[in-house]
Amino acid sequence: MKVPRFPDGFVWGVSTSAFQIEGATSADGRGPSIWDVFSADRAEACDHYHRRSEDVRLMRELGMAAYRFSVSWPRVFPDGSGKPNPAGLDFYERLVDELLAAGIAPYATLYHWDLPQALEERGGWPSRDTARRFADYAAAVHDRLGDRVGTWFTVNEPWVAAFLGYGSGVHAPGRKSAAEAFRSAHHMLLAHGLATQALRAAGAAKVGAVLNLSPVMTPAQVGDFGRELSEEDAEAVGRIDALANRQFLEPMLRGAYPAELLPVIERHGGLGHVRDGDLDTIAQPLDLLGVNYYTPLVVQAQPSEAADPAFPGSDGVLFCTIPTAVTAMGWPIVPGGLTLVLRRLSEEYPDLDLMVTENGADFVDVVTGDGIHDVERISFIEDHLRALLSAVREGARVRGYLVWTLLDNLEWSDGYQRKFGLVHVDFATQRRRPKDSALWYRDVIRRNGLTE
Ligand code: NOJ
Repeated sequence: MKVPRFPDGFVWGVSTSAFQIEGATSADGRGPSIWDVFSADRAEACDHYHRRSEDVRLMRELGMAAYRFSVSWPRVFPDGSGKPNPAGLDFYERLVDELLAAGIAPYATLYHWDLPQALEERGGWPSRDTARRFADYAAAVHDRLGDRVGTWFTVNEPWVAAFLGYGSGVHAPGRKSAAEAFRSAHHMLLAHGLATQALRAAGAAKVGAVLNLSPVMTPAQVGDFGRELSEEDAEAVGRIDALANRQFLEPMLRGAYPAELLPVIERHGGLGHVRDGDLDTIAQPLDLLGVNYYTPLVVQAQPSEAADPAFPGSDGVLFCTIPTAVTAMGWPIVPGGLTLVLRRLSEEYPDLDLMVTENGADFVDVVTGDGIHDVERISFIEDHLRALLSAVREGARVRGYLVWTLLDNLEWSDGYQRKFGLVHVDFATQRRRPKDSALWYRDVIRRNGLTE
């Protein structure tokens, strides 16, 4: 039987984010972030700030070729502006040097949701000034690490940060306003554009952004992607796709908002915050688009349905539960959705390089005397890798795959009970133990392929 192999030079690794693993929230002059203020959980997390070298060693032993981490903005600008805090940058400099010495390529994300609280107090993302501050921050980080970090991602999952942070209020800073969510989304896009310009001006090697992209489908389509839709369902699917996916893809890659989104934004606070020239700033040429894929969005038309606060403008659309296997988060497991996302991007943006920057799953792990036999996580990743390979065989330019995540960590509003790691963390002792999935992934990396 033919062994499923990945293209030569395919990049394998893992992703993490600062707030979810670092801890040490007041070390070396770090200021508070919106998550320190919002989160009910103690943010000691994985104490990675003090265990950095051990974690890099672990990644080397597991054969990682790439590590995507995020820089904590409030370590670099504790008060949001002014002069950068050199001690905050020192940490990332040491991290990057250790990664390079271990043969692991650093991929730096600049915004993974930990806005300095000082900037939230000056208006947060609904304020245009936050986008300007972000470009200054990007330049300061590049100034220190630009000679060693090859790939820069500006923002991570702006939909989540804008619509859960300012729309439904489930994430920090916990505001609940549709108008502020749309403003935040625009300013995050603007922040991406301004930071990309700043990074380019400073000579950054590669620049991209990371989006959470979910194919949108009806329950019937989950088992049959090609299934025809009624007019009402097609409209519902199209509206959610515009809100969740195209709201970010099209400004970044085409320089325009989807036309059908404009009346929705008009109804929720208007478009006064969108200034002439913004969309040109946002649409900077990109070297790479990072795709985070976990699960599809499953919807159908239902006239009586009120809008979901995370999707302002979704009135008349029902978000459906479906009888499919789910992860412990309750997210339906639909590996073919990854093929759909990658295929769509390749069709719509044929010249764009793609990387799966996050994919992984929360399952309930059982720790036994002889290890953590997380077979479900292995199947999840394996099935998604097969789905990725199908897209590659059709010609999708997917340059790499990063598992979410290295370590069990602080899953935002869900706290520590969620287990997405390849490596188990005992939070009482901070002991790390690779699960079976970590060892299995190491073999996939060695082979640059799956078995049969
Ligand atoms: C995407 C986010 O980028 C990451 O921070 C989060 O932990 C995972 N999804 C899992 O929910």
